[in-house]
Amino acid sequence: MEVVIGQSAEELALYAASMVRDVVRSKDHPVLGLATGSSPLPLYTELIRAHRDEGVSFAHVSAVTLDEYVGLPPDHPQSYHEVIRQEFTRHVDIDDARVFSPDGDPARAMDAGERYEKVLSELGGVDVQILGIGTDGHIAFNEPGSSLQSRTRIKTLTDQTRSDNARFFGSLDEVPIHALTQGLDTILDARRVVLMATGQAKAQAIAAMVEGPMSASCPASVLQWHPHVTVCVDEAAASLL
Ligand code: GLP
Repeated sequence: MEVVIGQSAEELALYAASMVRDVVRSKDHPVLGLATGSSPLPLYTELIRAHRDEGVSFAHVSAVTLDEYVGLPPDHPQSYHEVIRQEFTRHVDIDDARVFSPDGDPARAMDAGERYEKVLSELGGVDVQILGIGTDGHIAFNEPGSSLQSRTRIKTLTDQTRSDNARFFGSLDEVPIHALTQGLDTILDARRVVLMATGQAKAQAIAAMVEGPMSASCPASVLQWHPHVTVCVDEAAASLL
């Protein structure tokens, strides 16, 4: 695991963007694994800038999100289907039909995990996976206790995650209880992983991920098993290392 400690979120975003740009430049049909949440936003801002000012094209790129709330329609402002478009993909030249998310419709949720795994495998896997991390060490929506071998499936969100994410909704009651999420083993299939975290609130999770034992109680610690992970953190998030 490579840990890069930067002075600011912008500096980390430039570093992460250079890794994404390498993949976008070097592959005929690159697949980007995109994460929602606030941590990757400076990276998306930098990629949008590179598209606008330097002509970096995403026209040949496919993108897959990590997870989706169950029960929010795709056009709901907080569905990850919509959020990733608002934050990134609508601002570059990626083909909207090539931006994939798990199907959060409750009527089809039972086999939605399996269908999403099929999408990932038909795309040939993820070239670079962007990740944030929850304060409890979750990645995507793999909450503590998730099997290290899990594949895409429905998970019940913890009270901690629902209250962390309530800021995006009108109230805690509006935060869905279930989500579809790529599993930990699904995430490990990505050829390269870039995890971004800033701020003191993430320090404990980062320390457990990097230096703790590999354990389902810190789902992100499974990344110790991956051969090509870069952790981009500021000094506050790195303060317990
Ligand atoms: C949500 C997402 C995760 C994200 C986490 C942290 O739970 N499912 O993918 O990493 O939030 O979000 P933030 O970066 O806003 O702290």
